[in-house]
Amino acid sequence: MRIPLIAGNWKMNKTRSEAEDFIREFRSMYEGTDIRALICAPFTLLETIKAETEGTKILVGAQNVHFEPNGAYTGEVSIEMLEDIGVQYVIVGHSERRQYFAESDETVNLKIKALLTSSIIPILCVGEPLGVREANGQNGYVVAQVKAAFDGIGYDDAKKIVVAYEPIWAIGTGRTATAEQAGEMCSLIRDTIIELYDEEVGDDIIIQYGGSVNPDNITEIMNMPEIDGALVGGASLKADSFMSIVDF
Ligand code: PGA
Repeated sequence: MRIPLIAGNWKMNKTRSEAEDFIREFRSMYEGTDIRALICAPFTLLETIKAETEGTKILVGAQNVHFEPNGAYTGEVSIEMLEDIGVQYVIVGHSERRQYFAESDETVNLKIKALLTSSIIPILCVGEPLGVREANGQNGYVVAQVKAAFDGIGYDDAKKIVVAYEPIWAIGTGRTATAEQAGEMCSLIRDTIIELYDEEVGDDIIIQYGGSVNPDNITEIMNMPEIDGALVGGASLKADSFMSIVDF
């Protein structure tokens, strides 16, 4: 039984007081909801959000981490530092990090492996650019990303990973994949995991869709049997809109 997981990705947005206002508003609306809600925020907000969500079931995540345990990596943050704050999830390999910050399949794999030795759950992002979709190459592209990310990861660890399918052409563009397109790709990802491991791992793994998810399209997306949640950017920045998505 896969429990839906709706994650907000705040990207590079909000000051501490804005984050506090958001959590205070969201917290009261969220109380009593069964769906898991996760907020992935900039590093500077994590401690504030942990404090504001104390005593609630709201989950807290980061948007990146380094794979080395410590050392001379100016500007980077380690897994231990995130664990110390109580962070429960980290987004790995978001397309913006792949595009603007030289994140590669190799560093994604290293980050996932390092996270699996900790208490923090990785959310692996995969998805094709527009040109690949237009040339109908999305299946091969995404399968290769999944295989590279899971390379060398053992059976029990594999189950813990959350995968988010985010077609790049649908991120922040207002152009969502149709529920059918999203469902097909999430199904392909699940089949790839089954091929790499077995049915049990494939059945357990949480697969999200991301890309212009909003309160109006979430129901249709969540109705697809292979989609277990969403990774939401723009529409996660306002408490009422994020709550309408969590409450699909
Ligand atoms: P969006 O972003 O919902 O604003 O399209 C999704 C994401 O990048 O995770």
